[in-house]
Amino acid sequence: MLSQRFSLTIALVLGTSLAWVRPAKAANPGVTMSTFGKMPDGQTIDLYTLTNRSGMQVAITNYGGRVVSMVVPDRSGHMDDVVLGFDSLDGYLATNPYFGALVGRYANRIGNAKFTLDGKEYHLAANDGPNSLHGGLQGFDKRVWKAREIPGQHPGVELTYLSKDGEEAYPGDLSMKVVYTLMGDNALRIDYSATTDKDTVLNLTNHSYFNLAGQGNGDILKQEMMINADSFTPIDGTLIPTGEIRKLEGTPLDFRKSTPIADRIDADDEQLKFGKGYDHNFVINRSGHGLTLAARAKDPESGRVLEVLTTQPGIQFYSGNFLDGTIRGRDGKIYGKRSAFCLETQHFPDSPNKSSFPSAELKPGQTYHEVTVYKFSIVH
Ligand code: GLA
Repeated sequence: MLSQRFSLTIALVLGTSLAWVRPAKAANPGVTMSTFGKMPDGQTIDLYTLTNRSGMQVAITNYGGRVVSMVVPDRSGHMDDVVLGFDSLDGYLATNPYFGALVGRYANRIGNAKFTLDGKEYHLAANDGPNSLHGGLQGFDKRVWKAREIPGQHPGVELTYLSKDGEEAYPGDLSMKVVYTLMGDNALRIDYSATTDKDTVLNLTNHSYFNLAGQGNGDILKQEMMINADSFTPIDGTLIPTGEIRKLEGTPLDFRKSTPIADRIDADDEQLKFGKGYDHNFVINRSGHGLTLAARAKDPESGRVLEVLTTQPGIQFYSGNFLDGTIRGRDGKIYGKRSAFCLETQHFPDSPNKSSFPSAELKPGQTYHEVTVYKFSIVH
């Protein structure tokens, strides 16, 4: 009797875990499309699921160009979704902090919600205290993008959106194309391009929230972070850069050596107090404009490693300080404080008001093109 029960338990346990283990090799690469939900006006929103030959899956919706899930193996081949999100469109339509979103027209903050371009002052929505955050009230994260699937060995989805002159008070008709491609080596590549018919400012990023132990699986404090930066842009109490570019050496924000996020996050430091943890832009060490390693995160327990490569000058390391357990996400999981981190590749926050920062202006005749790669691997 006992042994019967024992073998039943074993079978159940095996059964459950087997259900989670997706093929480690020889999956059929490609794209499948399904309905994700309906907008309040009845418009249908789609979900595109990209699968590569080793079984990694990334799902993307044309609502806000959002990455809905990223399913990757741990060191024993067990697949987990490593980004926060929701099961259906309704979760994304409700208030949420930009889960997986394609953010713009200006990702991150613009101080006092205004900037001057060609002698003209533009007034934006102040949706974060006195500042404008992530493109305003109806940023690109809340827009319906046109989507086209790209089948094949490197499955992808191409998203396009025309942001009209004056949308969220930004100047110029901005025509954008963003392509998500799932590469064979478990890397999600994002190609952003845009043109404008009037001088404008532009800063596009992806706002995925990562937990390498699997979404909803506790906090990220034991996970380790390396950021390829010798300096950062210190902030004031409203998280706007002061304009200074400061060396990281000797500060609790120095991640040149891989360090558990927990180690210094609550250190007695003004910058960490302002951010309520890490919420800072790091100046990526680079020579030239090519794809450069910006950050590497590692979960020693699952063995999952995430590398972020980018052509952008900066990366925001945000340690999920504002998550507070009020959001119930995928599979009913509760997202508590610091249950995920973001690595948002970007131009520096508030660049339109900081002449010493790399320019975020785009002019007619120029083409904006930035690339970011989120690449997963395993350490044993
Ligand atoms: C960004 C900001 C954070 C926070 C989140 C969204 O990463 O830097 O301060 O606003 O978005 O909650």
